[in-house]
Amino acid sequence: MQDRVARTMVDFAQMKAFAEEPLVLASGRGIRVTDVDGRTFIDGLSGTFCASLGHGNDRLADAGAAQLHRLAMAAPTMATNDRALELVDTVLGLLPDRYGVVKLFSGGSEATENAMKIARQYQKQTGSAGRYKILSHYRAYHGGTGHAVAAGGWPTWRAPYEPLAGGFVHLHTPDPYRPPFDAAPWRMSPEDVCAAYLRLVEETIELEGPGTIAALITEPVLMSAGVVVPPDGYLAGLRRLCDRYGILLIFDEIITAFGRLGAGFAAELYDTWPDIICLGKGMSGGYAPLSAVVMTKDVARPFWGDPRDLVQFHSGHTYGANPVACAIGLAAIAQLRDDDLAARATARGERLRAGLREIAARHPAFGDVRGLGLLTGVELVADPGTRERFPAALEVGVRIRDEARRRGLLLRASHWMFVLAPPLIIGDDEVDEIVGIVGEACDAVLPGIPAVTGTGRTGGA
Ligand SMILES: Cc1ncc(COP(=O)(O)O)c(C=O)c1O
Repeated sequence: MQDRVARTMVDFAQMKAFAEEPLVLASGRGIRVTDVDGRTFIDGLSGTFCASLGHGNDRLADAGAAQLHRLAMAAPTMATNDRALELVDTVLGLLPDRYGVVKLFSGGSEATENAMKIARQYQKQTGSAGRYKILSHYRAYHGGTGHAVAAGGWPTWRAPYEPLAGGFVHLHTPDPYRPPFDAAPWRMSPEDVCAAYLRLVEETIELEGPGTIAALITEPVLMSAGVVVPPDGYLAGLRRLCDRYGILLIFDEIITAFGRLGAGFAAELYDTWPDIICLGKGMSGGYAPLSAVVMTKDVARPFWGDPRDLVQFHSGHTYGANPVACAIGLAAIAQLRDDDLAARATARGERLRAGLREIAARHPAFGDVRGLGLLTGVELVADPGTRERFPAALEVGVRIRDEARRRGLLLRASHWMFVLAPPLIIGDDEVDEIVGIVGEACDAVLPGIPAVTGTGRTGGA
């Protein structure tokens, strides 16, 4: 198996290490997946934040199969299809009236990439040809294609592909746990932290030149930044700044929409509505590659004209608006509504974080347990007093992840963080099972880490 595994590449992983202990999945049911050797794991990450409706879901599988027999492909360059139109109506029906056009794609990166292109073209076609820059946050992830990588904010994921496209400017991550302002930042009030981050954004806009900026893209909760829930008022503040300076606001809701945070959209939770919304992942429950860019009527209007005006959107992808993906998307959205899974995400997410906070009581390395709905992160610290991180070489989060996997739970981790985002269909007892396994994994790893056993600080990140 190791030799065979080494003939492929999984995302972001060093294949030498992966091939030593490969994970080769073969089937799934509910919140669990089973590998080729018959070992079963709780899917604590819903695939990658996709499989909100669980695995082996017959309703979604049947929707896809029926559409495969009916029409599997409709060329997106010269046709749309009935399923795509139904899906567009359904998505717009979930949103306020100001949204008017949905362009369907097949993956999250296609959505963010094209949202940025739409923003630039919009500015050109509305008399602001000088606006081309895109603002985004450090530590953010917006996908693996060219402009999406350029908007991303982790050096490790950018450096191998540099030079990246020009015109991308980064803002500080609006992290309430680690603001860069003061030696003891957590003594600032949350309102002051929010105001300080917004001042930094405004200063960046002014120094870059407002007339050069096309759009600001952000996840409402920044998963790759460390499940950063921005301070209250931050997103509303971004909305105000974008309005003031003529900048389009794009929400990358690839992870956060369709119930994940306990609402249809994060925009709804925060009552802050962007000009463009990117959707993906949970939109199809992970049963088909499906994503979308939703535009307000104002954003869409300049793309409507005579063919000789050349104002149409000049780009596309072969599998965009694929009828099978759309049929599955319709079934997924119907189930999310029928089973009120957003409300379940709120309740189960609170239960999960309460359980993790009980573990925190015996493991001070749990610096912060945070999240919304069923998107939860635990930030690990060597010293809870100073919030200093463990040295990266200790790989604390990764060791917890490996111990959890040995005990039958898949989660995502880096050296300073781990993330849980199980399917929204999860039951209370299954949440407790996750908490139990995380607790055991931490009991196995953390007592052996020097700082936690009382030797104090161990150095920076
Ligand atoms: C916030 C966010 N945006 C965009 C993407 C890119 O989506 P995809 O991997 O489907 O291209 C991801 C993927 O994880 C993501 O987390």
